[in-house]
Order: sequence, then C-alpha cells, then structure tokens
Amino acid sequence: MVDHTAGIESLGDLRGRRVLVRSDLNVPLDGTSITDDGRIRASVPTLRQLSDAGARVIVTAHLGRPDGSPDPRYSLRPVAERLSELLGRPVAFATDTVGASASETVEGLADGDVALLENVRFNAGETSKDDAARGAFADELAALADAFVSDGFGVVHRKQASVYDVAQRLPSAMGGLVAAEVDVLRRLTEHPDRPYVVVLGGSKVSDKLGVIDNLIDKADRLLIGGGMVFTFLKAQGHEVGRSLLEDDQLDTCTRYLTEAADRGVEIVLPTDVVVDTAFPSGDREPRPRVVPASEIPVDALGLDIGPESSAAFATALADARTVFWNGPMGVFEVEAFAEGTRAVAEALTKVDGLSVVGGGDSAAAVRQLGFDEAAFGHISTGGGASLEFLEGKQLPGIAVLEKD
Ligand code: 3PG
Repeated sequence: MVDHTAGIESLGDLRGRRVLVRSDLNVPLDGTSITDDGRIRASVPTLRQLSDAGARVIVTAHLGRPDGSPDPRYSLRPVAERLSELLGRPVAFATDTVGASASETVEGLADGDVALLENVRFNAGETSKDDAARGAFADELAALADAFVSDGFGVVHRKQASVYDVAQRLPSAMGGLVAAEVDVLRRLTEHPDRPYVVVLGGSKVSDKLGVIDNLIDKADRLLIGGGMVFTFLKAQGHEVGRSLLEDDQLDTCTRYLTEAADRGVEIVLPTDVVVDTAFPSGDREPRPRVVPASEIPVDALGLDIGPESSAAFATALADARTVFWNGPMGVFEVEAFAEGTRAVAEALTKVDGLSVVGGGDSAAAVRQLGFDEAAFGHISTGGGASLEFLEGKQLPGIAVLEKD
C-alpha cells in the first residue's frame, strides 16, 4: 500500500497559525481521577511539536459516549489539567466546543499556546449519521482554525465531524502518532516476519470476527483466551458452566476451527481455566479454583486461563518474530484472575521481533500490571481502530487525509 498522506511539515510555516488537532484523550476516569493517562501521554509529542513550531494549538477530543449534549460526568476538564502537567505549560480550557468560550479561548492564544476544547461529543453534530448535520458542525469547528492535524488514532475508524468532515474543510495533515500507528500496523498486515502469532482475548467473539477472518490466513498461530474462549470451548463440545457464552457464534467458532486446521494455522486454546462461582465484586473475596477446560462445573464461570495454559501460551510465543495481542486473558483487574494476562504480557516482553499490544483493555492491562511500556515493540492507543485496521477496512479518518 502506498502512503499518500502528508505529515505536519506539509502544512508549511505554522508560526502564528491556528491549528486544530484531533487527539484521542478518551481515558478511563474514576470520578474525576484519571486511572490510565496512556492516551494523553501518547498525544503530547505532536502537541509539543506544534507548539514548538509557534502554532496556536487548539485540541479537540471526546471523552466517553455522552448523548450529544453537555454532561458534566464527561467533561474534559481533568484531562486539560493532566495535559498541562505533561506538556509542562498551561493548557487553556474552553467550556464549550464551538461556542463563546471556544472563540474567546482561541482569540486569547499567543504563538505556541495550547488550548483544549470541551468534549466534542457534547454536540449532536459530531456523531450524526446525517452528512449535512455533521457538516454544519464541522464548519463551526473549522472556523476556529487555519489548519487541521489528525492525531487521534483511536478515532480514525469513526466517520465523525472532528475526525472526517473537518479534514475536508481545512488544509490537513496526519500527526506523528497516527503515522506511527499506521506504520506498525501495516507491518502486521504486509510481510510479517514469521512465526506470526496472534493472541486474542476479551469478552466477545462477535467483536473479533472481522479480525479473525482477516488474520486466519496470515497468522501461523492463533492463541485464544478471555471471555470469548468459552464459545470456542463449547463449539469443541465442552460444557462451560455459567461462563460467558455467545450461542449465536457457535457455528462461526466451529468454522474457524475447521478453517484453521485446513490452512495449517495452529489454534491454541486453554487446557485449564480459573473459575469461581460468581463474577468478582467488591462484596466478596474471590474463590479462584483451577479446573480442566473440559470439566468446568455447571455452577462455575471461567475468569482466567489456568497455569498450564499460561505456560503453553508462553511457549507458543517464545519463537515468534511478530506478535499482535488484543484483549486480556481474564478479569485482570482482580488479582486472583490476572495471572493469565500477566503471563501473556511477560511472554510478549521476551519476543525477539515485533510485539504489538492492541489498545483498549490490553494496553491498560500492561500498564496496570506494572510492565515497563518500553519492553513492548508498540502499544497501540486504538482499540477498535487497530482491530478495524487489521480487518483490512478502510478507515475514514485516514482515507480523508490521502492526497493524490
Ligand atoms: C476508544 O476508546 O476506542 C476510542 O476513544 C474511540 O471511542 P468510541 O468507541 O466511543 O468511538
């Protein structure tokens, strides 16, 4: 695939120009405390680059999925504070996205200053499926700036005003974060070094159908854990007790198992699982128990892969030259069910080649479990976006930046 997208330098001299940057600052919050600032940290280099170039930097971003009107629970104000700490300079905060506060804030910017606009999803036009409504909102956003930089990799799969339509209205360029993400993900789809091992987890098979379809003839080995594995185990004829199960995906799982066997792709499923009789909650101490994957008791639910499986997964990763991992192996937020995810992360740190952690929960898991991020080849900031990229889909936020 030829890259026709242009980087920030294509925008020319930025001194004194107002540059609107779409970043992905969608971080998990506990009340107003940020529990994982990975996406904010990943956004800093582009913002610093623009500020150092003398641009007047206007950042637009979303937080969560508000319904198109202001909702204080989804305010970006705590993010502005953290961004300011990380940038080491003040970040002006506009209490709306395209209203009076935004105009005033932008007018007050001097060369090199940075401002963050309130949650772009507080405006119904942002996510509207109606092109005209989205376009009208994009007009307002575009009026704030002279140029646009697309740097929110986690949202490039969304055809939304601040990602897609605004790029049609201003001179636009791809930011360094999106460029780096695209570069790494392309290496996974075009001529990966072999063995190429894909590790998939997380709760639902249905979220991963596209990626399995696309990778089943590219990967050499597919390791499956997390909640989605129980539908595979059931498809193999095992009882899974009260574990997560997608009945409507049983046939699909059976088809994947057959297709993989036909194509010589090795599918590695857990042989043991850690179960409990209830999903972990604050009210009760976990009672983890290891059972064979073929003998899950009727009253139990699987919450992690077991130790034998962790060792087998680590072995299956040991000679890999390329790895893509998306989705935790278990309920890693609870220590009693974190071991499988920890074992996979540990194995990835030892890979002699390219190891990529797909965003979302797996990226959060790596950080929460205390791993050094530098030990991985790449930790993506995009969950859905990285999956859609690997599914081979055209991503609107990237396609719109392509120049002839
Ligand atoms: C993400 O969390 O994957 C991105 O920020 C996109 O968020 P969305 O799924 O709400 O569009």
